[in-house]
Amino acid sequence: MIDSGLKERRPYVILNMAQSINGYISGRDGERVQISSEYDSKRVMELRNSVDAIMIGGNTLRSDNPFLKSDNCRFRIVLKSDGILQMDSNIFKSEGTVIIVNESKETVHGKTIWISGGKPLDLKIVMSKIYSMGIRRILLEGGKKTAMNFLRNRLVDEMYLFIGNIFIEEGGIKMLDNSKRIKEIIVNAEIMDKGILLRLNPEKIGEAL
Ligand SMILES: NC(=O)c1ccc[n+]([C@@H]2O[C@H](COP(=O)([O-])OP(=O)(O)OC[C@H]3O[C@@H](n4cnc5c(N)ncnc54)[C@H](OP(=O)(O)O)[C@@H]3O)[C@@H](O)[C@H]2O)c1
Repeated sequence: MIDSGLKERRPYVILNMAQSINGYISGRDGERVQISSEYDSKRVMELRNSVDAIMIGGNTLRSDNPFLKSDNCRFRIVLKSDGILQMDSNIFKSEGTVIIVNESKETVHGKTIWISGGKPLDLKIVMSKIYSMGIRRILLEGGKKTAMNFLRNRLVDEMYLFIGNIFIEEGGIKMLDNSKRIKEIIVNAEIMDKGILLRLNPEKIGEAL
């Protein structure tokens, strides 16, 4: 297992998101839109195969109902506070274990583990508990609220934003709509097939939130 190399006992976190040219990560009313190109989807699959767990927020589970496919990632993690989770969602059809982080419940049901993160959820406690389960690397795949919570708490170590070859009509969710000025945020930019991959500095965004 790859160790995170961090001083804190928490997993190494990679945040990966995709947005349209005009800044949207979803369509109107949170509707899922395919933003990643085929090439980018392969990159995301490689990222998924390099981590112990893939994490999403409750709204992404409800709106996108993703499978979070991977060849060898052992855990899928969902963060929720008081939202409802459909236990027949696609995430539960994966091979691995699903961890549901919630405010108070601690139980195991087959391949589903519920862990409590406090009320309100304290991400530092959550990360420490997840670390103690042997999880050393996490790919965080959004959505916005979850990503912003992690950035605000300085829990993101690496961040990628793919800008796809698409405009999305006004009314959806924007990833970076900060009112504060953030300079020198781009660490690296790469033109890919049908899009641009940005590696961003998570510290800089965290400082501005
Ligand atoms: N383009 C992309 O890269 C991308 C990636 C992922 C998602 N998306 C889009 O993003 C949209 C959803 O984003 P979103 O911002 O509305 O929601 P989200 O981040 O997916 O989920 C937010 C929910 O996660 C739970 N949660 C996360 N952090 C928490 C914390 N610190 N404390 C308590 N609860 C926490 C809560 O769940 P409960 O409500 O269950 O209590 C909260 O309501 C969807 O439209 C999806 O299509 C886009």
